[in-house]
Amino acid sequence: MAKMQKYNQTTVTEFILLEFSSPPEWQTLLFVVFLAIYLVTVAGNLLIAAAVLANHHLHKPMYFFLGNLSVLETCYTSTLLPRLLASLISGYHGISFSGCFLQFYFVGTCACTECYLLSVMSYDRYVAICKPLHYVTIMKSRLCVLLSFAPWILGAVLTVFTTFFASQLNFCGPNVIDHYFCDYSPLLMLSCSETHQTEMLMSVLGSACTMPPMILTFASYVCIISTILKIPSNSGKKKAFSTCSSHLIVVTIFYGTLIIVYILPKTDTLKDLYKVFSVFYTILTPMFNPYIYSLRNREFKEILKKCACTQKLIPN
Ligand SMILES: *[C@@H]1O[C@H](CO)[C@@H](O)[C@H](O)[C@H]1NC(C)=O
Repeated sequence: MAKMQKYNQTTVTEFILLEFSSPPEWQTLLFVVFLAIYLVTVAGNLLIAAAVLANHHLHKPMYFFLGNLSVLETCYTSTLLPRLLASLISGYHGISFSGCFLQFYFVGTCACTECYLLSVMSYDRYVAICKPLHYVTIMKSRLCVLLSFAPWILGAVLTVFTTFFASQLNFCGPNVIDHYFCDYSPLLMLSCSETHQTEMLMSVLGSACTMPPMILTFASYVCIISTILKIPSNSGKKKAFSTCSSHLIVVTIFYGTLIIVYILPKTDTLKDLYKVFSVFYTILTPMFNPYIYSLRNREFKEILKKCACTQKLIPN
């Protein structure tokens, strides 16, 4: 009885992240895999950001947005992977209470910012493809700066609220989180307070981050596709479709997994799968975005190539 009371009164000061509950001999393999993912992600994204900043041919709205997306993806993976790598190599899986909510805040901010930035990028493509004659007058530099910074501000502000509500929950133990970072649904499962109200608030805030940008993104792509269908030449149609479809796949996976994890009601099957879904929007999207958005873009590739060539020619 005394023990029970003590157990009830304890508040958790530290969480244990189970990460990928794998046998110990797999830890090294997982470490190598995630290290490779981290290096590829950071290298690809920093290359693009540097190319955009250094090359005045790339000083156009579309590339500014791409550069900002790359900076965002670098921050995003850096909120998750270094901690995961450290814990895989050291075998120490603890994270302090405040560390946990700090991570929750930064991951949330990056995810929410990315939702809005992807919708800004699709809006930019919509104007370029569907209103080509007005592109220059619509995408003035002031609007471009506003559209680049607004996603960051929205993401940071909306996530203040989600972090505040999540940190109001009581945790009286156990403190083992079955996940690889401090995220909302596993924290909710550990909480010993009445979570119904928090769950509703979180759904509303989660929807504010994902729904408006998702609707804007898909509306833009509907207009883009209907414009592409009117292109008379078949090869032109094909080219436009191939870029467009890869973007669509990326945004669908990104928004889709976010909505499944944060907004849909938490059924038992979803609880088993949220770790898998989370890998898509936290690890795979930042890794593949630079390749899908920039390195498949012909103009971008050509400018990069030219850049590399002149640099080789100068010393000769
Ligand atoms: C981000 O966007 C702003 C405003 O459009 C731009 O000035 C800046 O260069 C961009 N950053 C990168 C890394 O492209």
